[in-house]
Amino acid sequence: MNPSLNKNQIKILLLEGVHQNAIDYFNAQGYSNIEYVKTALPEDELIEKIKDVHFLGIRSRTQLNEKVLNAAQKLVAVGCFCIGTNQVDLEAARKRAIPVFNAPFANTRSVAELTIASTIHLMRGTFQKSAAAHRGEWLKSAANSYEVRGKNLGIVGYGNIGSQLSVLASGLGMHVYYYDTENKLSHGNAQSVDSLKELLEISDVVTLHVPETPETKNMMNAETLGYMKTGSHLINYARGTVIDMEALAAALKSGHLHGAALDVFPLEPKGKDETFISPIRGMENVIITPHVGGSTQEAQANIGLEVAEKLVKYSDNGSTASAVNFPEVALPNYTQAHRIMNIHQNKPGMMSAINEIFSAGGANVLGQFLQTSGDIGYVVVDIEAEHDPAVFKDKLKALEGSIRTRVLH
Ligand code: NAI
Repeated sequence: MNPSLNKNQIKILLLEGVHQNAIDYFNAQGYSNIEYVKTALPEDELIEKIKDVHFLGIRSRTQLNEKVLNAAQKLVAVGCFCIGTNQVDLEAARKRAIPVFNAPFANTRSVAELTIASTIHLMRGTFQKSAAAHRGEWLKSAANSYEVRGKNLGIVGYGNIGSQLSVLASGLGMHVYYYDTENKLSHGNAQSVDSLKELLEISDVVTLHVPETPETKNMMNAETLGYMKTGSHLINYARGTVIDMEALAAALKSGHLHGAALDVFPLEPKGKDETFISPIRGMENVIITPHVGGSTQEAQANIGLEVAEKLVKYSDNGSTASAVNFPEVALPNYTQAHRIMNIHQNKPGMMSAINEIFSAGGANVLGQFLQTSGDIGYVVVDIEAEHDPAVFKDKLKALEGSIRTRVLH
């Protein structure tokens, strides 16, 4: 980005109707040159529009592939106003020195709340009773209907969602147990157990909050489902691949499991026109939701603010903390200094060449921050305000292996 640009010359393009919070935050921070589009754009239109854009905000529908990035000559950073970043060619963006930010934890509370709701509904069998009533049957009975108070909740994956859920469940008087492959500090009276098997054996409701990894693929299968208590319940608000769905359907049919609540599936329809197909379809003891665990107005609002904050921070300060494709550098504010940021190929000799430029130019370096990630390095150098940063910028730009240089005054 040209350092002579003032904030209102920095062009921001926000697509797919990102939350108003984002616009409000950009404006409050002095960024007013914002184009707001409610939809995603067809590729050819995006290619045309992106040419003079410095910051781009998208949600999940905009495909940011190499072809589009090639047209984005001025693009400084991308904000995905959502959780996932699969829609962006992250590698291609990194090679072009474009960090990509998202809001991975903005919907933690939304998922935790819905998990609590499902826990209660499963323990009461409300969905079966509701389905029957829709057919005209009146199942007024306390059979298989329980309070959650005093029951065991088994949380698999005690990360952001798992630990927040733990607090809410404890508040309802549940006994909370958890299993995590990492050592996690427990909240309240929650207790960690040493193995998944142990957790499954003691829980009345098991709820999954692990990421999708080779280790978690089909972690709930015929064998592990068999460890669960007879008449217990399973909740999956994490990722569909974590459960072997045929095995789950069999465990539900046999009555070994009493019910399940599922929000995510190995195969999910891409849109409204595609039919949802799953072996558990038609089972009234399964609460099915269409991957909406984190979809609330509050989560959208949080995402709008969080991603806008990250983009402004990168623009104003150079910080890349929590970028998904980039060396992460959390920078202090700079005062009485020029901040020079250089993104370069991570190869031997690069840093000594960069340092030589500063020492040959007689710069008094006040601070230096370096981080590398794969094939690129990101170095930030604060020099005394009396120096002319343009001299150093030009030399850094000319350096072989240098990809992009930015200056903040
Ligand atoms: P997180 O990264 O904060 O926590 C995941 C935890 O799982 C970590 O503590 C990790 O150590 C643990 N873990 C990893 N592998 C494990 C294994 N094999 N066994 C036991 N523990 C293991 O993630 P967060 O934010 O809590 O999200 C959890 C899941 O929820 C993710 O898969 C995420 O994609 C999904 N999610 C689903 C949403 C929905 O709409 N249904 C919305 C938000 C998140």
